[in-house]
Amino acid sequence: MKIKLYLFTAIAMILNSFNLQAQSGAKKVLVVYYSYSGNTRIIAEQIQKGTGGDIFEIQPVNAYPKDYQEVTGQAKKEINEDFRPALKTKIKDINKYDVIFVGSPCWWATMAPPVATFLSSYDLSGKTIVPFMTHEGSRMGHTESDIKKLCPKSNVLNGLPIRGSRVKQAEGEVMKWLKDIGMIKK
Ligand SMILES: Cc1cc2nc3c(=O)[nH]c(=O)nc-3n(C[C@H](O)[C@H](O)[C@H](O)COP(=O)(O)O)c2cc1C
Repeated sequence: MKIKLYLFTAIAMILNSFNLQAQSGAKKVLVVYYSYSGNTRIIAEQIQKGTGGDIFEIQPVNAYPKDYQEVTGQAKKEINEDFRPALKTKIKDINKYDVIFVGSPCWWATMAPPVATFLSSYDLSGKTIVPFMTHEGSRMGHTESDIKKLCPKSNVLNGLPIRGSRVKQAEGEVMKWLKDIGMIKK
């Protein structure tokens, strides 16, 4: 009887692991984000929790000024000039990932410059890029088409925009979206 129970449990565990792999497509997921004031980080953590992927924070060598007027001025100039700020760290083995979630605050209707640096620093050909963004009205802006220009050989999905003021209540929406696009862990 005991042996039967052990066998049954073992078979159930194996079937469950196949099921999990089938649902996630056994794809290796990385969640990458930049966050200036913390909102995008909260969504990145929710996506990490849902997908079970690895998480990586993009950090510029020179942090942006804390003053709102200053940062908006600097951001506008950098975006207009296509400036790519240097980043603090590099991902060693990006090749092992199939799906890369890329998160940014909406800055002047596009991604923040450190995210553009990230996307220009690696060969992401053949990978699926899933953008997400926090904003205060512009939603994704023209981020998806800007990412396609930087990564023409990647499969860029439509992004998820979340209003910055409601990131803490967004987990349900994030999980539903992950399910809809076939990226949820379970
Ligand atoms: C430099 C700068 C530019 C911004 N530009 C926009 C914008 O064009 N459209 C918008 O909806 N929100 C804009 N915002 C608001 C942010 O996108 C929003 O507060 C976001 O949730 C911040 O995310 P974070 O906390 O991860 O940095 C801007 C904020 C900053 C600091």
